[in-house]
Amino acid sequence: RLAVERAGLRVLAWRGDLLARVVSAPWRDERYGVYAAIRASGGVHRSRVGMTAIATHELCSKVLRDRTFGVRTADGSQPPPFAASPLPGEIETAPSFLELDPPEHTRLRALARPAFSPSKISGYRAGVVRATERLLARALAKGDFDLMADFAAPLPITVISELLGIPDVDADTFARYGRVLGASLDGIKSVDHARALRTANRELRALFTRLIALRRSEPGDDVISALVAAGSVTELDLATTCELLLVAGFETTTNLIGNAVWSFARHPDQWDRLRGDHALAGQAIEEVLRYESPVQMTARFPHEDVELAGVRIPQDTLTVVLVGAAGRDPAVFERPDEFDIGRVAGDHLAFSSGIHYCLGAPLARLEGEVALTALAEALPRLRTTSTPRWRPTSVIRGLSTLPLSA
Ligand code: HEM
Repeated sequence: RLAVERAGLRVLAWRGDLLARVVSAPWRDERYGVYAAIRASGGVHRSRVGMTAIATHELCSKVLRDRTFGVRTADGSQPPPFAASPLPGEIETAPSFLELDPPEHTRLRALARPAFSPSKISGYRAGVVRATERLLARALAKGDFDLMADFAAPLPITVISELLGIPDVDADTFARYGRVLGASLDGIKSVDHARALRTANRELRALFTRLIALRRSEPGDDVISALVAAGSVTELDLATTCELLLVAGFETTTNLIGNAVWSFARHPDQWDRLRGDHALAGQAIEEVLRYESPVQMTARFPHEDVELAGVRIPQDTLTVVLVGAAGRDPAVFERPDEFDIGRVAGDHLAFSSGIHYCLGAPLARLEGEVALTALAEALPRLRTTSTPRWRPTSVIRGLSTLPLSA
């Protein structure tokens, strides 16, 4: 309840401010206009309530790479506002490495890194293809289907549960609670939501604790076995890392797929182009990441007073890095508001930059590319049966439903 109230107060404090247009309804759908306004005024917006927003590619990139900026305040006390860790409940919790500065970040990230090596990622391809084909066949058999519920949401959860080696008997529990936890990236919406999160948290922790013990005695070829083998780490660090992989990789990838299909639905010429040349799928995913970044913003705190583009930012100011705005910056991308899969858009910041660069980026790219190729093969036309709606979220950019007809 306290966390909900605190989040509510923060939103209230932002009301009336330029940045409030980005973080609160009903302005979210106009976010690209707000980003452009911040860029036009120099790229750094100092809010009346004391935080800062950054909207140019150059400055976002600089802040993300500059070690003067951390994910916590200088004394380490204040955690990031867009944290991936679940709510504290009856279970013991610890910050994940997404929410830690060096040296803890370095130590814990190294633990998970081997699971995302190039050879591991290419080993995951067959499983991703299998899951994609199975889910798509089931969705298409329905005739009219919801791309989000029937395909984009189950695909990443299936892939992550295979990666983590979740046994078949636990797969449904994992998917159900994983969905609740995965949706927490945008904060807590209500007391009911907080309660559901707490239960999901407890159930998933129990599942991970059992699996960690199992893989200690019977190692397999899965990510949990790799984490266990990586060295001397506490049970809590292991469980927290599993939870991070679930939370960070679920909603984000779901919305990458949804944002891709919706962008193509509004640009049938680009869909025809992809259907004519499936080799463009990888490049098209980069364009979607640039054009409709599934994660729109992250946050940093300067550990000392700094100056950015002539604007002074005092130590420990909450600095919102608008990576979704960086992708629309005309200084880097020609015709930034056009969706064009012919461009090489790899310079976007959708996966962040610097030491917190998305560890799962190669897996997300693989899932996006495989999903898009399968959809291009299966659907000659993208026929939407009603107007989809953007979810009322700020950090995450994604659709609640995307009704399609096979
Ligand atoms: C970090 C985006 C998929 C695991 C991040 C960050 C971003 C991001 C922006 C950094 C946030 C910051 O700098 O504050 C995305 C997007 C994805 C995606 C857009 C899909 C389209 C995945 C997947 C996984 C994953 C599939 C793993 C299964 C992680 C981890 C971190 C991270 C572990 C923390 C890295 C660190 O702090 O060192 N992601 N992500 N992500 N992501 Fe992803």
